[in-house]
Amino acid sequence: MRKIAVAMAKGGVGKTTTAVNLADALARMGRRVLLVDCDTQAQAAKFLGVRHPYGLYEFVTGYDERGRRVSKSEVVCAARDNLWLLTGGIKLVELKNWLGEQPREQRQTLLAKALVPKDGALDYLIFDCAPGWDVLSVNILMAAEEVLCPVALQAPALEGLKTFFGYLLSAQKLNPALQLRYVLPTLYDLRTRQSAAILKYLQRFFQRQICDPVHYNVRLSEAPAYGRTIFEYSAQARGAADYQLLAQRIDDHDEP
Ligand SMILES: Nc1ncnc2c1ncn2[C@@H]1O[C@H](COP(=O)(O)OP(=O)(O)O)[C@@H](O)[C@H]1O
Ligand SMILES: [Mg+2]
Repeated sequence: MRKIAVAMAKGGVGKTTTAVNLADALARMGRRVLLVDCDTQAQAAKFLGVRHPYGLYEFVTGYDERGRRVSKSEVVCAARDNLWLLTGGIKLVELKNWLGEQPREQRQTLLAKALVPKDGALDYLIFDCAPGWDVLSVNILMAAEEVLCPVALQAPALEGLKTFFGYLLSAQKLNPALQLRYVLPTLYDLRTRQSAAILKYLQRFFQRQICDPVHYNVRLSEAPAYGRTIFEYSAQARGAADYQLLAQRIDDHDEP
């Protein structure tokens, strides 16, 4: 099973757009995917147009807010064929408090321990991360093996990247299996010189990790309002082709 964290220390760079559309592209290729929303804004469920009473909070703690025991099968939301979702949202604030109260030596690996699926049940775990650094982010980077870092090709593009590398280095000390595997340029605007210049810089700097850019595409920004992925909303759009290409590249790769 591949475990990929879509992460970057900056908001608005396309993390959720990437996590959701990559997850759907892989599911459409027949892979079984669990998408984990790790953001308090609950955007992944909105992007997929689903609601579910339980999510990551109940999954990790094993209980709902009223203290009733809930099983993992109740907690996971079947969002599409081959695509399941663990919702995030405001309850993640409680989850962070709960994690903070656990014994120090266990605190950072509770998510990794909770997320052990039955052998062969899943092909991909994809984490849609929040921009900040806290006990939950650390747990995600303990549970993941690969990092996909979206970088918006708009100034100040590299803001956040340096901060994020600091986080990554700290996480790698605790989880040596963690690798920065993909740098994904997003919001690529062919009309601006700035976009091309930043892309060139990233290509030079991340020769192994750099992916083909995702173009700025209005359809990508419209689809979430309808609760649809780009493949459902506008399969002919450039954004669909871009995310299909990314999914293909990732799926063609071996496990790290
Ligand atoms: N390639 C793109 N073209 C146009 N709009 C995009 C693109 N990628 C993301 N967006 C829009 O930009 C905003 C931020 O994207 P989002 O995925 O929510 O970022 P993050 O999760 O990093 O905060 C959203 O409104 C989204 O619809
Ligand atoms: Mg997001």
